[in-house]
Amino acid sequence: MNSNGLKHKIREYWNSNVCGSKLSKLPKFSQEYFNELEEIRYKLEPEIYSFAQFTRFHGKKVLEIGIGAGSDFIQWVRAGAKAYGIDLSESAVQHTLKRLELTGLIAEDVRVDDVENLSYEDNFFDLVYSWGVIHHTPDTEKALKEIIRVTKPGGSIKLMLYHKYSIYAFLKYLKYGLLKFRPLRKINNIMYFHQESLGTKAF
Ligand SMILES: C[S@@+](CC[C@H](N)C(=O)[O-])C[C@H]1O[C@@H](n2cnc3c(N)ncnc32)[C@H](O)[C@@H]1O
Repeated sequence: MNSNGLKHKIREYWNSNVCGSKLSKLPKFSQEYFNELEEIRYKLEPEIYSFAQFTRFHGKKVLEIGIGAGSDFIQWVRAGAKAYGIDLSESAVQHTLKRLELTGLIAEDVRVDDVENLSYEDNFFDLVYSWGVIHHTPDTEKALKEIIRVTKPGGSIKLMLYHKYSIYAFLKYLKYGLLKFRPLRKINNIMYFHQESLGTKAF
């Protein structure tokens, strides 16, 4: 499959599975629904707080790539950052805009955009942040070049990517390699076919 075909599939996947949104059964787009998504997210991944350090970026220009359901994005806005958010998925953007509207919070910009071709100018952001995103896009190297391009010299970049030699990847190998009697199956192949959208990588 070529890169455009793969990206189309990735977008389709995330349009029907907005990241983390299945964790709540409450009425979609209600305040209670968003509260529950937020509560569950930071219970499952409390390390995000110390990694992101939201409040350190008060007044700074922050771009979040791959906003998903908007839980981290809302933290940037609450912390007083000049927050910009993008996602390849229209549903993710819709989730985040709805969330901002409900809370009355104002972000600088939220739009559908592709990390491989960012529509922002060079040297624009103090921080580019992205949690669990650029291992999904077909050309991760191009994504990285774009991230560096839009970050100011001396600015910060914070990225979370899947690690090939992690407990998480090992559990995937157990499930889709060893327990399927395919012990020689490579972790990259397992991640490509069995980790969320098609084509996911681990580094
Ligand atoms: C695993 S979710 C993570 C979402 C959010 N950061 C979180 O942690 O909940 C991956 C997100 O990356 C987005 N994504 C995938 N490829 C992308 C691309 N090329 N450009 C922008 N966003 C992309 C998907 O639409 C999806 O919302």
